[in-house]
Amino acid sequence: MTATDTPPLLRLTGVGKRYGQRWVMRGVELQLRPGELVALLGESGAGKSTLLNMIAGLEPVDEGQIELASHPVHALDADGSAQLRCHALGFVFQAFHLIAHMSIAHNVAIPLLLTGVSQAAALKRARKMLEQVGLDGRQASLPSELSGGEQQRVALARALVHEPSLVLADEPTGNLDPATAARALGLLAEQARARRAALLMVTHSEHAAEVADRRLVLDSDGLHPA
Ligand SMILES: Nc1ncnc2c1ncn2[C@@H]1O[C@H](COP(=O)(O)OP(=O)(O)O)[C@@H](O)[C@H]1O
Ligand SMILES: [Mg+2]
Repeated sequence: MTATDTPPLLRLTGVGKRYGQRWVMRGVELQLRPGELVALLGESGAGKSTLLNMIAGLEPVDEGQIELASHPVHALDADGSAQLRCHALGFVFQAFHLIAHMSIAHNVAIPLLLTGVSQAAALKRARKMLEQVGLDGRQASLPSELSGGEQQRVALARALVHEPSLVLADEPTGNLDPATAARALGLLAEQARARRAALLMVTHSEHAAEVADRRLVLDSDGLHPA
């Protein structure tokens, strides 16, 4: 099989979403190959977060289909959708969403614990993952003891530790100063590539152009090349 024969990891066909009578987007088409890095751009309110939430099975799809690793996300029940999220997806958010009273090693271990890995094995892998994002020696720290850039590195570690095939990142560097944001974006891309995880990230950072394989803009008619 050649690279072009590889089935897409993620396929969106004619996806639409509406709130009440108002369609936020229609006709969204996207194919993401394993390991591909795509930057998602679009004006505020265009529906970027809504689109990521639909791909994650967290928002109903009002028309069209979303297939992730050959699973029909648009048709899964709550259990099926939760299972798929646990195994196939990693998330990075603008506000990091770390659990305040847990050490950063425990925060990173969460996705592994959710898939049934033992606590000891999960913490071991979490510590190794923290080393890879440059936080060795900080495993016992609480999130509040870290800078914003360091907290986002914890969030990146947590998104990747269970080796998901797709990472969804929603303005992951929006709360960081430009230099820290650039480093975090570079690290996210490097770590995703190292694991052959595909990455779909909403970002306004100019550095997105440098790290992404493709840039797409979302508007009410769907996705277009930037
Ligand atoms: N739960 C909701 N109910 C009604 N409208 C919503 C809801 N969530 C999002 N919207 C609307 O959908 C549009 C897209 O929102 P969003 O996905 O957050 O945009 P973006 O992330 O691109 O800024 C906005 O107009 C927003 O007001
Ligand atoms: Mg948003």
